[in-house]
Amino acid sequence: MDVDHLPTEISSVLLTEEQIQERLEQIATEVDADYQGRDLLLVGILKGATLVMADFVRHLKSHVQMDWMAVSSYGSGTQSSGVVRILKDLDADISGRHVLVVEDILDTGLTLSWLVRNLSTRGAASVEVFTLLRKPEAVKMPVSPRYVGFDIPEVFVVGYGLDYAERYRNLRQIAVLDPRVYGG
Ligand code: PRP
Repeated sequence: MDVDHLPTEISSVLLTEEQIQERLEQIATEVDADYQGRDLLLVGILKGATLVMADFVRHLKSHVQMDWMAVSSYGSGTQSSGVVRILKDLDADISGRHVLVVEDILDTGLTLSWLVRNLSTRGAASVEVFTLLRKPEAVKMPVSPRYVGFDIPEVFVVGYGLDYAERYRNLRQIAVLDPRVYGG
């Protein structure tokens, strides 16, 4: 799906396909260099990170393994509920492994700060974070992502994995949702 298919629902395009892919390629180059000679396990956080993961791994030049977790921190609206729970845990035992968590967005930071703490208790050799997007509020949280794709303003974004009430995940771009769609 393309923003041109949604003329009344999208206010503006924040990031084009080209901008996203170019940044993913740059970060993949950094990750290849930083983890050279080490086994890396990428942990994608469902469902938002699926598109980031799918494109990111194809930019890498090294072997990596992938695993997935599903956690819940949001209701169906645009506000964080403040509660994190595991809906699907990792298949892999991460003790002694180098783990890089792959996320679509760091918003309040609640999800990632909780996740990093949780994964760190499992004996991983290292736990780092790559988030494609970071919102301003997140800088107040004790999360320091090693890789950040883009710092974005405090707007409600959808597309490229990010949803509103499970819609817009299959949008090619990252776009600002018109507040009329969610009654804002
Ligand atoms: C979104 C996003 C992050 C989290 C970020 O997930 O994918 O996991 O919210 O918000 P925070 O920094 O305020 O915690 P969501 O729970 O909406 O699930 P989804 O990935 O399935 O859309």
